[in-house]
Order: sequence, then structure tokens, then C-alpha cells
Amino acid sequence: MGYKDIYDSWASNPEDFWMRAAEAIDWDKAPSKALFDKGEGMFEWFADGMTNTCWNAVDRHVENGRGEQVAIIWDSPITHTKREITYVELRNRVATLAGALRAKGVEKGDRVIIYMPMIPEALEAMLACARLGAIHSVVFGGFAAHELAVRIDDAKPKCIIAASCGLEPNRVVHYKPLLDGAVDQATHKPDFCVIFQREQEVATLTPGRDVNWHGFQYGVEPAECVPVEGNHPAYILYTSGTTGQPKGVVRHTGGHLVALNWTMKNIYNVEPGDRFWAASDVGWVVGHSYICYAPLIHGNTTIVFEGKPIGTPDAGTFWRVISEHKVKSFFTAPTAFRAVKREDPKGDFVGKYDLSCLNAVYLAGERADPDTIQWAQSQLKVPVIDHWWQTETGFAIAANPLGIEELPVKLGSPSVPMPGYDVRILDEGGHEVKDGELGAIAIKLPLPPGTLPTLWNAEERFKSAYLTHFPGYYETGDAGMKDEDGYLYIMSRTDDVINVAGHRLSTGAMEEVLSNHPDVAECAVIGVTDPLKGQLPMGFLCLNAGCDRPHDEVVKEAVKLVRDQIGPVAAFKLCTVVDRLPKTRSGKILRATMVKIADGAEFKTPATIDDPAILGEIREAVTPLGYAKEPA
Ligand code: COA
Ligand code: AMP
Repeated sequence: MGYKDIYDSWASNPEDFWMRAAEAIDWDKAPSKALFDKGEGMFEWFADGMTNTCWNAVDRHVENGRGEQVAIIWDSPITHTKREITYVELRNRVATLAGALRAKGVEKGDRVIIYMPMIPEALEAMLACARLGAIHSVVFGGFAAHELAVRIDDAKPKCIIAASCGLEPNRVVHYKPLLDGAVDQATHKPDFCVIFQREQEVATLTPGRDVNWHGFQYGVEPAECVPVEGNHPAYILYTSGTTGQPKGVVRHTGGHLVALNWTMKNIYNVEPGDRFWAASDVGWVVGHSYICYAPLIHGNTTIVFEGKPIGTPDAGTFWRVISEHKVKSFFTAPTAFRAVKREDPKGDFVGKYDLSCLNAVYLAGERADPDTIQWAQSQLKVPVIDHWWQTETGFAIAANPLGIEELPVKLGSPSVPMPGYDVRILDEGGHEVKDGELGAIAIKLPLPPGTLPTLWNAEERFKSAYLTHFPGYYETGDAGMKDEDGYLYIMSRTDDVINVAGHRLSTGAMEEVLSNHPDVAECAVIGVTDPLKGQLPMGFLCLNAGCDRPHDEVVKEAVKLVRDQIGPVAAFKLCTVVDRLPKTRSGKILRATMVKIADGAEFKTPATIDDPAILGEIREAVTPLGYAKEPA
């Protein structure tokens, strides 16, 4: 069957489609049906089934004869280390860790925050939680203590599992002071913290609170898998919204297992036993779905890579890993390829490695520009597949499903909707626009299994953020269009979210931080176009009347404030002082126009603008930063 047949078979009977997909999962009690309508646009999948994620990702492969297969390959060019863990070893390690957590009181439903770099122990911690039915929330290492504190207060974890440090090419990231700072700042206090000591930095444990990863596992009884309901939360993953309060995306167990397992063959075209590599971080959704869960659920070997596309040690590191570990399907962000292309435009490093194992490359996390795709196609000589998804959905909304059928690639498009997604392009009034016209991208409810059923502790926010604007639809927050062949084009966000090097960030959150600077009266943060990272944040500060401090001093402090409060990952370095911000007569800051000015793009002066002269002042302010160049 081709793509169209499969999509139509889903559309004509979604219940049957997903019940059949669910047969690939081991259930302690099979679900009686797939979809459960909770009313008000809320849905759950496989709610009355009983299953366990860790069983499906680990134990069942041991039972089915894959025990000696390598489950995880750790390749860390930063520490010059490689390690392999078989499924049977993984089962034993995870069962012991889960046993130790249980001995300290962690039970089904308890939250556990995981704050770890790209080491196999991060996956083991996730799987140990899943084994007990505890709900993990992984926090990306590039976030500052304050962001961790916000997540601690929202998730209220019984325990935090952290490493002593992370390693960036230019520095050691001291996790322990960040952890301590976050626990101090947070109102909620965890019962205990487990610290994995890395040899690059041994942290001092806090007496009475911290236990050593190895020490606390000594002599404990390994834990068995605890069956949980299909609608039991497997994890919470916080993602940027419009404010400084991140959204806690909830993932339910049953749908997560079914959907991710389905994608491995149908989208990524791998068979159990094949090697799959997603070069992302466990702190992001790509890391959850495609470093940890999907490859393991499907019986693949997954690669945990602690390194960067360039500089660890060179622009050939991706090709070395693919060739050495016989990777069949490779997933990364376009920004990583742009970084490699910039260092090695002619692909000299590509020629040094045997890449005959590689069947396809997948790109997501941000818009894939045609130049980058064409460069990758010409260098690697395999299909380069752009696919579009979000933290909220957990797997691709649109893709070119190579395991079903290789559809023609259209540059600039992540191809077509996957089964489960009825994607519509709507105007402000909620009416569908014509093919080729821009609009808000919405998905007809219900969303498929594996997508978010709600936000943690915030059902009303879930409804207002996603369901209210277009009744009967999930609002993606992306704008774009559909062509006459049904291919989607994702053009921009409709909210304050920006995408910096494939990292999703909130300009609203940065504005909240900047407003706290004592000299700042008002501010705006926009996302400007960057040839490497896709977008970069740029801040505009209006200082309090009477503030006569040198502007560069205030700017320096503002940059430091964002780094200290949100983290280095915000990459907030462009900032300037202006007298006033351009606004509409009703006081709304004209951020979209500011973006156009900074990007040197053509724009129309908005009819509602209060004082058009301010636009010239904005142009003058961003020119010294290297922006506002005339359109080419
Ligand atoms: N822990 C601590 N700090 C981190 C971090 C982590 N896990 N990840 C990034 N940072 C820091 C970086 O060290 C850098 O700090 P600096 O300002 O002191 O230099 C800052 O955050 C910005 O990092 P990044 O945006 O990654 O930029 P970079 O210049 O270090 O690297 C790329 C540029 C393109 C190589 C890199 O962004 C990259 O590999 N991107 C791919 C992203 C990706 O896989 N996204 C997942 C979505 S699929
Ligand atoms: P995240 O939740 O971090 O995965 O970010 C999701 C957002 O990244 C989406 O809403 C899009 O704005 C953007 N995005 C992800 N993949 C793509 C893609 N293939 N093309 C265009 N934008 C994308």
C-alpha cells in the first residue's frame, strides 16, 4: 500500500487503524478501544489498557532474543570515550536503578526531575522512572538554575537525578551549583537527589539530601515493571510558550508507545536491529522520542552522542559516527548541517568515510532551507527528508514516509500529513483558505495517540492555548500553506516563540527577565534571521527617565541577566537601547515590523502605527549590530 492508501485507511477508520498499530505493543491488559472522548475537545488514547513503557522498550527485547544486541552506543568525542550497552545489560542496570529509587520511596505517579547531559545514564534514569510508573521530567542542561527552579515548583518532584557536570567544547558545565541554586530558589523541595559523579568533575554531595548514583544502588532488590493505565503520564516535558512560565507537555503511556513504534518503520524505514541516530539532546522532545524511546521500543540500537557537529574535533564527526556505528537512519537539525557546511563546504570530510550504511537523513526542529537540503543531498547522496513536528505532538505531523513510499521531495516543504493528522489552513475567522494561501495551521481534533492530552497542572491553559481560537481544532502556533498536492509549507510562528539553533525559546520569557533590570522601563525581544542558527533573539531596551548610565553598561548587564536567568542556550547577545518602541495607537508593540526592519526585508508601515518616525530610529539602532541591511 502507498502513502495515500494508508492515509485513507486511517481517515476512514481511525479506531481500527490505531487498534491495529497497538497490536505491536505488549499489554498487561489490552485496551478495549482506542479513543476516549473526555469532552470539551479533550481526548485520551488506550485509556483502559494496562502496560509498561520500560517493559516495551527493554525487557521484552531480552525475552524475545535480543538480549545480546547492543541497545545503546555512547559516543563522546568530548571525553574521547565510547561504550556499548546490550539490551540485557540495560535491563539489569535499569531494574537496579529502579529498585534503588523504589527503596527511597519513589512510586507510581511520583515526579522525578532528570538534569543530565548526553550520557547513557540519562536514558537509564528515564527508563527506571518508566519501570516504576514514576513520571519523569528531563530538563535541558543549557538552562540556568532559575528555569530548573520553575520546573521543580511546577512538577513537585520527589527526587531529582542529576550528573555532576556536563561538557561543552569550551567549558565544564557545573551542574551541581546549578542544581543547588535551583533547589534553594524553589519553594518545593525534593526528598532526595541522586548525583551521578563524572570523572571530569566530582561534586560535593549535600549531606542529608544527596546520594551517590552508585552507592545508593548497592545491594538493592531490582524492581520489576509496574503496569500502568494507558492514560498514565509517562513524562512531562516543559517547552516554551508565550510567557516565562513554560508549558508542561504531558505524554500518556499507551499512545506514546503505539505512535512511536509505528513511526520507526513507516517514517524512518528501519527494521528492529538496525542502528538509528538522532543527534539531539535528551532535554528536547527529539531526544525523548528518538534518542530514548522510539528506537528502544522498536528494538533498534540508539546512539547517544556527546559532541557537536563541528569542533569535536572537526566537521567530519557526524560522518565518522555514522560510518563507525553503521547508522542506517540519521536525524538532526538543519542548523547542525549549516554549521558543518560552513566549515566544510566542499564536503572534504564526507569523502573520508564509508557512508554506504546510511539510507536516509531526517531534518526537523526548524525550517529546513532549500540550500541546506541540497547541500546534504549532493554530499550524502541519500534522501534528505524534512519533517515537521512539535514538542506537543511528540512525533511528525508531516513527513515523507520512506517506509511506506518515497514521495517526491519538494524543497521547502516537510511533505504531507501523517496518518492521525487532518491538517487544515485557516483564516482568522476559522475558515479554510485556498491552496497556496497563507493561514494558521490547525489540526482537526482529535489529535492522534502520542500527542499531548493536556498540560501538567494547567488544563485551562491547555484549552486556551490550543483549543479555543479555532473550536474543533488544535492550533499549532505555526503559519503556512498547503499546495495542490497536499504538501505543507511551514513558514513562521504565530506567537512569541522563536527557534534558535533548533532550540525553541520564548521572546516573552526574555522580555520578562529584561523588565526586571532596575533601569529598564520597557522592552521588546524579537527573533532576527541568522544564517547559522536560523533565528537569534534581539533585545530593545527603553530606560527609565533620568537614567544616565552608559548604555553599553546596561546592555552588558541585560545580556548577563538573560544568560543567568534563562541560560546560555538562549544565545541572547544582541541588545540595544532605544528611546521608544514602535506601537499601534492602542499600545501594541509592532514586533513583526521590527523583525522586518532588522532583517532588511521590505515592509509596509502599519496603518495603525502611532508614530511612523520611530521605525527610522529602530533601523538606526540595529545597524551598528550588523542588521537592517538593504534587501539584496
Ligand atoms: N549544556 C550547557 N550549555 C549548553 C548546552 C548544554 N547542553 N547546549 C548548548 N549550550 C550553550 C553553548 O555552550 C553556548 O554557550 P556559549 O554562549 O558560552 O558559547 C550556548 O549554549 C549556545 O549554544 P548553541 O545554540 O548550541 O550554539 P553553539 O554556537 O554552541 O553551537 C551549533 C552551534 C549549530 C553547532 C549547535 O547549535 C548545534 O549543534 N545545534 C543543533 C541543535 C539541535 O540538535 N537541536 C535539537 C532539535 S532537533
Ligand atoms: P519544538 O517544540 O522545540 O520541537 O519546536 C516546534 C516548532 O519548531 C514548530 O512549531 C515549528 O515552528 C518549528 N519546526 C519544527 N520542525 C519544523 C520543520 N520541519 N519546518 C519548519 N518548522 C519546524
